[in-house]
Formats: sequence, structure tokens, C-alpha cells
Amino acid sequence: MTTIKGGRALPLNTILSGDCIEQMNSLPEASVDLVFADPPYNLQLKGELHRPDNSRVDAVDDHWDQFDSFAAYDRFTRDWLAAARRVLKPNGAIWVIGSYHNVFRMGAELQNQGYWILNDVVWRKSNPMPNFRGKRLTNAHETLIWASRAEGAKYTFNYEALKSLNEGVQMRSDWVLPICTGHERLKDDKGDKAHPTQKPESLLHRVLVATTNPGDVVLDPFFGTGTTGAVAKMLGRDFIGIEREERYRKIAEERLSRVRRFDREALMVSSSKRAEPRVPFGQLVERGMLRPGEVLVSPRGKTAKVRADGTLVGDAMTGSIHQVGAALEGAPSCNGWTYWHFKRDGKTVPIDVLRQQIRSEMSGRPH
Ligand SMILES: C[S@@+](CC[C@H](N)C(=O)[O-])C[C@H]1O[C@@H](n2cnc3c(N)ncnc32)[C@H](O)[C@@H]1O
Repeated sequence: MTTIKGGRALPLNTILSGDCIEQMNSLPEASVDLVFADPPYNLQLKGELHRPDNSRVDAVDDHWDQFDSFAAYDRFTRDWLAAARRVLKPNGAIWVIGSYHNVFRMGAELQNQGYWILNDVVWRKSNPMPNFRGKRLTNAHETLIWASRAEGAKYTFNYEALKSLNEGVQMRSDWVLPICTGHERLKDDKGDKAHPTQKPESLLHRVLVATTNPGDVVLDPFFGTGTTGAVAKMLGRDFIGIEREERYRKIAEERLSRVRRFDREALMVSSSKRAEPRVPFGQLVERGMLRPGEVLVSPRGKTAKVRADGTLVGDAMTGSIHQVGAALEGAPSCNGWTYWHFKRDGKTVPIDVLRQQIRSEMSGRPH
């Protein structure tokens, strides 16, 4: 599908062929919400790698991963990061992924260009490839860097959704996920890996749920087998892929044609409390949900009375629901919404329930 933005075509949900720098430069400026980039690692492999039984290791030795020198790799990194920054919206963000061979070089260049690093994430592989020579540690992780386009940008971060993914506990910056194996790993006609560095969908799922919303545009300039596009499509995001190698584009096209989008309801994620509309406590009084003079109680039996202007009076002090709660507890702060309760039909109910009711009305969703 193609959408016109600012008079120029935005090739949504397609794979562009050719060099990603040229292709990004032909896209409209400030048109993309998120870039996910898994560029060549520049592994600098010298000769073939063999296992102790002399079988050949299927390593990344493709020509797309070859650069003459660090300087050449740095020039390439500088150019594609600049092209990506131009197409990002002002509040857009980027993820890059790499190994020790290239991630530090990308990190430095991100900062040189004015991107603002928000986190680095260690993707710890639960099933890494062993170290065959036994001369170094097993490489069991890759590093991702998440950066906003600029310092102070209002980047997307679905904090609550990540917490839900993590069974109610804040998501940390070390992610333990398996590498791509089994039925997810795409094979060629001979039954060999179709691409040496196909990323697992679980990694992209987490990245996209965390830092995009349905309808956002996600650009992957090093599309490979199209993992980013496949997960974006499932999650109801639009994608733009760029891939230089025809054989990978074909594999990705075929893969994408098989992907089904999750239904609308399944795409909803827990929203950040901060992103929800503000409801002043006074509105509960204005709307008659609580009456002036009504008594609110705390979990430990402290009480305060509601006044007509939405303040509380309790124990010779007046103030907001938060101020009176904090004063009664002798605490520096208090979340009045969860602290204060009202009584209805013999039951004690937190006043936050009334706030949620108003928010549901505002969004049109049932409460
Ligand atoms: C590390 S792989 C990405 C794998 C991908 N994330 C996946 O899950 O399949 C990098 C890809 O970038 C492509 N590539 C390398 N240099 C490129 C360039 N200048 N422009 C476009 N694609 C390029 C390679 O052909 C390769 O498929």
C-alpha cells in the first residue's frame, strides 16, 4: 500500500530493493516513527571456521558483511545513520543491534549525530552457539541500543505493556530469549539456513510492543528475511523494508504473504498511567459521584470530608486528596486516588474506581 505524505510517496508495507542509504534518501523526511536496524556486523572472519569434528561452521562470511577496514565500516555507519535520522519524525526513535565487532562503533556514531541513547539492552541468548576453538568466552549475547532522534524528544515507551509482558514486574535491560531455531528458522531449497543472521520474532515483538503503537511506521533498512516486517504486520504496524540481496527479498516477500495480523482487540496493550487523561478529583464532586460532606476513609481508618470545591478537610487541615493523605500519614507524598475510599452499599471502594469510570466514558470503551 502506498500513502501520500507531504506530497511524496511513502511505500508502506513493501520491500525496497537496493542500497539502504540511497533508498532512505529517497523517502520523505520525518515520515517514520521507528527504525530497527540490524546492519552488517563486519565480523572480519579470516578463513573458514571448523568444529572439533572438522565439520564447517555456518558462520556469517557473506560478501555483504565484508568491509576493507574499520574506516570503511565507520563511513558506512555514519552515512546510513544520517539517512535514518533524516526520515525519522522528531519524536521518533531507533534501535540498532550488533555484536562486539560493531556495536561500539555504532554507539559512538549515534552520539556524534545527535541521537540520544535511552538504554542499551543485552539480549542474552538462552541457546548460544558454542565456542568451537575454546580460546575465548562463548559469545552468548548481542547488544541493542535504543535511542531517540534527539535529546528531549517525546519518544514512545509502553512501560505498562512491558511490565505486563513481564508478569507485573518492571522490564529490565537484560532480555533472555532463544536464537531463531526450529520451525521459525527459514530454510532454502537444500534445507540449509536461508539467512545466516535471521533474528527471532520474540525479540522484535518486545521491541515493537515497547516502543511503537498500532498504525506506526517502522523502517528496517537491513531487512534480510523480513523479521521486522513480519512482526510489524502481526502487530498492526506498517513497515518499510530495504534489502539489497534479491534472494533475501524473495524469502521475505514469501514469509510476509503468510503472516496474518492479530485482531484489533488483541493489539491493545496496557497503557501508561501517565498517558491517560487527567481527571481532577473535583470532577467527581461536580458530577455528584461524591457529595460535599461525604466522608472518605483510608485503609487504616483515617477519615476526611469532601468539600464542594474538590478539597478534603481532615484533622484540622485542608488540601487536595494527596496533601491530606500525606499529612495524615506523616509521609512526604501520597497517591490520594488509591489511598481514599468511599462507602456504597456496605462496601468500601477506592475513589480511583470513579476516576476510571470517567476515563472509560472519555475513551468510549466499556469499564
Ligand atoms: C544482519 S542481516 C539482517 C537480518 C534480519 N534482521 C533478519 O532477521 O533476517 C543484514 C542484511 O542487510 C543487508 N544489507 C547489507 N548492506 C546493505 C545495504 N547497504 N543496503 C541494503 N541492505 C543491505 C544484507 O543483505 C543482509 O540481509
